[in-house]
Amino acid sequence: MKQIALLGFGTVGLGVYEIINQHRGIYFAGTDTPATIKWILVRDKNKKRAHNPTDCVLTDDFNDIINDDSVDIIISAMGGMEPEYTYIKESLKKGKHVVTANKEVICAHIAELTDLANEKGVKLYYEGAVGGGIPIISSIVETLKINKITKIQGILNGTTNFILTKMAKEKADFDEVLKIAQELGFAEADPTADIEGYDVMRKICILASLAFHTHAKTEDVHLRGISNITLDDVNMADSLGYDFKYIGQALLRDNRYSISVTPVLLPKDSVMSNVNQEYNVILLYGDIIGELCFMGKGAGKDATANAVVSDAIKALTEEESQTHINFNETANSYGLSGIKNEYYIRATVENYEQFEKVIDLAAGAIKKNNLTYTNSKVFFTTELIRSSDMLALYEQLKDAAKDVFYARMEHSLL
Ligand code: NAP
Ligand code: HSE
Repeated sequence: MKQIALLGFGTVGLGVYEIINQHRGIYFAGTDTPATIKWILVRDKNKKRAHNPTDCVLTDDFNDIINDDSVDIIISAMGGMEPEYTYIKESLKKGKHVVTANKEVICAHIAELTDLANEKGVKLYYEGAVGGGIPIISSIVETLKINKITKIQGILNGTTNFILTKMAKEKADFDEVLKIAQELGFAEADPTADIEGYDVMRKICILASLAFHTHAKTEDVHLRGISNITLDDVNMADSLGYDFKYIGQALLRDNRYSISVTPVLLPKDSVMSNVNQEYNVILLYGDIIGELCFMGKGAGKDATANAVVSDAIKALTEEESQTHINFNETANSYGLSGIKNEYYIRATVENYEQFEKVIDLAAGAIKKNNLTYTNSKVFFTTELIRSSDMLALYEQLKDAAKDVFYARMEHSLL
């Protein structure tokens, strides 16, 4: 019988425990049940919990786990950088397999931890860190056996997709829907990571690192959150025939990458604009296979636990490791230079002087017949313009108006 130590007993940890020890997962319920959770690490042993396990030991001391030589594998689902990064490293050093759902740690240390796992001859898997239940990491690894991947685009955050869906379909208020997403266990402990895009930034960097064979760094990402999107923006997009989605994108060109995380307007009849609630969708482009599209629940207890337990089964049963991934290409970022798009812009103004300034600044970029205004807001879409010109216009508009929101407009995304 293989012994598992579970770090974290929150949304994901409980789901993992239910599948393995409570036998909701058929694999672990069979006669040849190969593993059981022996230890669960929590921050506060005395916290009142919906479920109090009696078939394993709750501890608040990681030393209990790292010093137990019978533990074969660590499943980590705590959150944040420390102490989880140290615990993962210590576990690999001790020759234990590691499965984690922690994208913050993997994004920052993917190359170093992969090297360490290879050196120690153990497995390091992190399917649950990106796309919840979608098997995107293993699909990228498979696709790379034949293809060069040059593009990844996707909705990678369940919380923000849930918020945008409720705003569009039920005209719900941003903050109220965020609270529901927190109650449902989709949001991060600090939801700023969801709504300001750090979560998508980490996920798209992990995917880009794998796909482009280089350690993609978060400082190279063009990042914009969605916390200042309003119902007016959602309604205006609707009247133009579009939906807002929050998209992570990684492109590879001439061995240089460009990564962005931004709100995007998608045509209502596109595949991605119809991926709603906490669902995620990821589009890959391989030079031989062409476009591949993956969709599934991107957050929540069962979807994530499913990915985590699949990894654990692989780590415990498969001879060949997926850990042998090369991150040594020296690709660097080309930022957004040279990329052209059309944009939707909303400027909120407080008086006529601000209104006039906004109109003057926007004059050169406005698409013909695409300007609308009320007494406090100016809405327009632009012709195709360079991303760098859009950024410059945004800075000027921000100085002129009370509040400005903009989003790239896409014509397809399937
Ligand atoms: P959560 O509900 O906040 O649970 C965190 C758990 O970790 C709690 O049991 C907590 O202990 C424990 N913990 C936190 N810090 C600790 C420390 N310093 N020492 C010991 N135990 C500690 O989090 P979650 O939603 O399950 O997410 C866990 C991880 O999975 C995060 O990295 C998250 O990004 C990732 N993830 C989450 C989802 C999702 O849908 N929720 C999906 C994919 C990936 P106490 O119980 O004592 O507080
Ligand atoms: N907070 C994350 C989300 C959890 O909403 O997508 C899944 O990674």
